[in-house]
Amino acid sequence: MKIAIVTDQSRTAYLPNEEGLMEDRQKRQTVKAIKEVLSEKYTCIDLVFDDNILIKLKREKVDLVFNLCNGISGNSRISQLPALLEYAGIPYTGSTPLGHALAYNKIYSCKLFNEANINTPKFAYVNNIEEIENIDINLPAIVKPKDEGSSRGIHQNSLVFNKDQLIKRVRECLNTYDPPVMISEYIEGREFTVGVLGNDENITALPILEIDFSNLPKHLHKFYSFEVKVHYGDKTTYHVPARLDEITQKKIEEAAIKAYKVLDLKDYARVDIRLKDGVPYVLEVNSLPGLMRGHSDITKMADASGLGYKGLIFSIVENAIRRHRLDEKLQHVK
Ligand SMILES: Nc1ncnc2c1ncn2[C@@H]1O[C@H](COP(=O)(O)OP(=O)(O)OP(=O)(O)O)[C@@H](O)[C@H]1O
Ligand SMILES: [Mg+2]
Repeated sequence: MKIAIVTDQSRTAYLPNEEGLMEDRQKRQTVKAIKEVLSEKYTCIDLVFDDNILIKLKREKVDLVFNLCNGISGNSRISQLPALLEYAGIPYTGSTPLGHALAYNKIYSCKLFNEANINTPKFAYVNNIEEIENIDINLPAIVKPKDEGSSRGIHQNSLVFNKDQLIKRVRECLNTYDPPVMISEYIEGREFTVGVLGNDENITALPILEIDFSNLPKHLHKFYSFEVKVHYGDKTTYHVPARLDEITQKKIEEAAIKAYKVLDLKDYARVDIRLKDGVPYVLEVNSLPGLMRGHSDITKMADASGLGYKGLIFSIVENAIRRHRLDEKLQHVK
């Protein structure tokens, strides 16, 4: 079986300097690590998603794509490669265009969480500054791009305590990211993230990871802003498995799996949750969570579960193989 790891072209032209460079670096390291693992069992190549991707995949006779593409531009960018692959009949890892689109747009996913009685912070969204007058939201709130990741666009000043700060931050956000901008009531509480693996009847949660901000310097707000992710990694403590009583652990796992199902996700995803007064609030679901070895949260959970990095990558591929019924081709692994 031949697997192609497919990644996006560089986004440095579209993103603020530091955000873009970091994304590129992480991408290169992730491809290298996944390729190393997959090459143990499969023939593995890596390709870049450009206009000729279908031609390249067909020329290389690829059986399965390991999809790492968030897409470059457009509101449905994360769905673009899966949509092309679906059209061409080429199996791929991870969610379908539908699942990715729903998860990627935090406004749509949070609407679905409300519909399915999954707790999520109260939120609003605006296309321009004037619309702020019409929203009904309690401050403090977090102002965030509706469809970014890795805390891009979520900085310390994204947490706003009054209307002046809100207007200022919404304006900054609108200048860089596609509208609408999301405004989400701040949930003060412990933060967890849950890796979910599998499909249909076999969906399981990996050990829950707590992100503990209590050691951050006093001048920083205790949430996972871009600054905290990039510059205060050593002051952020990860507890995996998280220190939770059994009942709360179950509640968090159930919320994560419910969120995964309601968005119709496939193979793997990561669900971000905050806990307040014993209630888990789902902040968002990452349908294409980072897989950088030892760095990305889901790889830390895999290490704690005994799966390890290798086990995680093989499990994603095997889930995809089963889902696409590629099993018989497995006979031909090298
Ligand atoms: N409503 C909220 N209440 C409290 N904290 C929040 C809220 N929304 C976002 N945050 C904080 O901001 C961080 C980043 O937000 P979010 O997970 O939506 O962004 P992201 O960039 O998509 O993250 P990821 O890196 O997981 O892709 C969260 O991990 C959390 O610390
Ligand atoms: Mg997140």
